[in-house]
Amino acid sequence: MEKLVIEGGRPLAGTVRISGSKNAALPLLFAALAVDGPVTFTNVPRLRDIHTTLKLLEILGCTTAFDQGTVRVDTVGLTPEAPYDLVKTMRASVLCLGPLLARLGEARVALPGGCAIGARPVDLHLKALEAMGAVFELEDGYIRGTCQGRLRGAHIPFDFPTVGGTENLLMAAALAEGETLLVNAAREPEVVDLANFLAACGAKISGQGTSIIRVEGVERLAGCAYRIMPDRIEAGTFLCAAAITDGELLLEDCPLGELEAVASKLREMGVWIEETAGGVLCRRGTELVGVNVTTLPFPGFPTDMQAQIMALMCLAKGTGVVKETIFENRFMHVPELGRMGARISLDGRTAVVRGVAGLTGAPVMASDLRASASLVLAGLAARGTTHVQRIYHLDRGYERIENKLGAVGAVIRRERE
Ligand code: UD1
Repeated sequence: MEKLVIEGGRPLAGTVRISGSKNAALPLLFAALAVDGPVTFTNVPRLRDIHTTLKLLEILGCTTAFDQGTVRVDTVGLTPEAPYDLVKTMRASVLCLGPLLARLGEARVALPGGCAIGARPVDLHLKALEAMGAVFELEDGYIRGTCQGRLRGAHIPFDFPTVGGTENLLMAAALAEGETLLVNAAREPEVVDLANFLAACGAKISGQGTSIIRVEGVERLAGCAYRIMPDRIEAGTFLCAAAITDGELLLEDCPLGELEAVASKLREMGVWIEETAGGVLCRRGTELVGVNVTTLPFPGFPTDMQAQIMALMCLAKGTGVVKETIFENRFMHVPELGRMGARISLDGRTAVVRGVAGLTGAPVMASDLRASASLVLAGLAARGTTHVQRIYHLDRGYERIENKLGAVGAVIRRERE
């Protein structure tokens, strides 16, 4: 196993290019399963989850090639089974369900794993696909879905605006017979990216980015070339990195328009963020102050930025309150930040953060992707040396984070444990 060793206390300065979005890239790669003909994606981040997805696509009967940020996928001879070995490492694997059912009338997908941030069932995906005519059974830890003929368009009201559920249904509905109406759909920019890609392949979709998406099914989708949107969560993490180290960063290809909720909270904390011709410039404006943050579906504050803003609040003046409403178990960074001197008390889904004057380096354990990022941020600001252990989570979602941080002045290295 590998760890990151960080010598903290250096203000970061310089330019960082934001990579393509992981959470957009994964559904887009699975969407290639729905397309008849070769697809080319550019701006693909080099991440472990991307490699896992490409392996899975190959097992499902695709040819894939990944070179310099460009991925080519061609569905040559599809097969319906996504095996446990790959699915267990990545929850997003469940996104092959919709396109496989739509193209083959059959899918057999192991029940997903991924980050340990709560129960994360897929009941809403299944219920919605059932409304389109799919039938599911559980066999040996696998979900087996079948449908007679094509999936049928349906009126689907989601109980919760699930991101993955909306994406699965978009892919299924694009090839279904008739019209599908997704109500209370997720409005996340990554859902919009997927809908735009499907539309570029010939799908008839409207309303993406709103909570009602209308899809008129077509018989076939044709391949195209598509550039993946930049990663708003990586960008948000680097905004926090500039602020927590009292440095100044210029972020190139930073999707500030999709980061409004984060930028507005950071500004409230005293961070200065400005869009310039060369990118988004960010530094600490005044003394940082604690704020109240509640995670919500888009356009609310993203749960994927909760751990990082909490790291920043640890060093802010006064008290901040963080409420996590999306996942029931997403505070695993709290005890680790405590080991570095943070003062945080937890009560259910609420964390109360009392700012301290400084953090000190310590060995800490990364438990999930974004929790890992918050520990790296804390390490960058702490006095002394921080060892962030179990960084395989970080490699799932951040492209060469130690290289990007090292290039702007962080003293950070990867070591074998
Ligand atoms: C996606 C993102 C993840 C982000 C999350 C919320 C990807 C690859 N991952 O995850 O980084 O944190 O959106 O913005 O894009 N739920 C159910 N039943 C379901 C589906 C979801 O109960 O069938 C619950 C989940 O357990 C969770 C909540 O709904 O508590 C949100 O899940 P969802 O929006 O589906 O997130 P993901 O698509 O898994």
